[in-house]
Amino acid sequence: MHERGVTVWFTGLSGAGKTTLSRWVAEQLRTNGRRVEILDGDEVRRTLTRGLGFSKQDRDENIRRIGYVAHLLARNGVIVLVAVISPYREVREEVRRLIGDFVEVYVNAPLEVCEQRDLKGLYRKARAGEIRGFTGIDDPYEPPLAPEVECRTDLETVEQSGAKVLAALRERGYI
Ligand code: ADX
Repeated sequence: MHERGVTVWFTGLSGAGKTTLSRWVAEQLRTNGRRVEILDGDEVRRTLTRGLGFSKQDRDENIRRIGYVAHLLARNGVIVLVAVISPYREVREEVRRLIGDFVEVYVNAPLEVCEQRDLKGLYRKARAGEIRGFTGIDDPYEPPLAPEVECRTDLETVEQSGAKVLAALRERGYI
């Protein structure tokens, strides 16, 4: 059976909606009989990349390991949904080159909106100085310059954003 694997890379600030969007897309794809894996920052950091912190060096290492696993899965026909902040452009481009079949999704919500949502209470802690080096507060986020898809999660429903991702996969022949 012909099933092309691909890595869909969701990048964006904490609280932008990467996890929610990747889960929605996964459900749609599974309903259509595709094999899907999600590599989500919060979970991967408890397992595959346990022990890594949030310095640039550690974040880059996190991304490289995740990119490698995504590569292994995708070349076996799996659709891999990666949901990690991945704030540095250069290492995102590195994994894009490694993987080849790569669709970058910029999960874009303004910092103010992410901070307002503050699902994990981390923005408050970062503002209070209890967490140092928090992305968007006192650590950089480099937005993609030419993502295949951009979702404005503050303006779109999850269904609208998800439909854009599915359309991008369809246009490129992955589904
Ligand atoms: S990445 O920068 O290496 O891509 P990743 O997506 O794996 O980050 O992990 C981000 C998650 O770690 C956040 O959603 C948040 O829950 C938690 N976290 C803890 N400290 C930080 C920090 N300093 N900056 C960003 N996220 C942090």
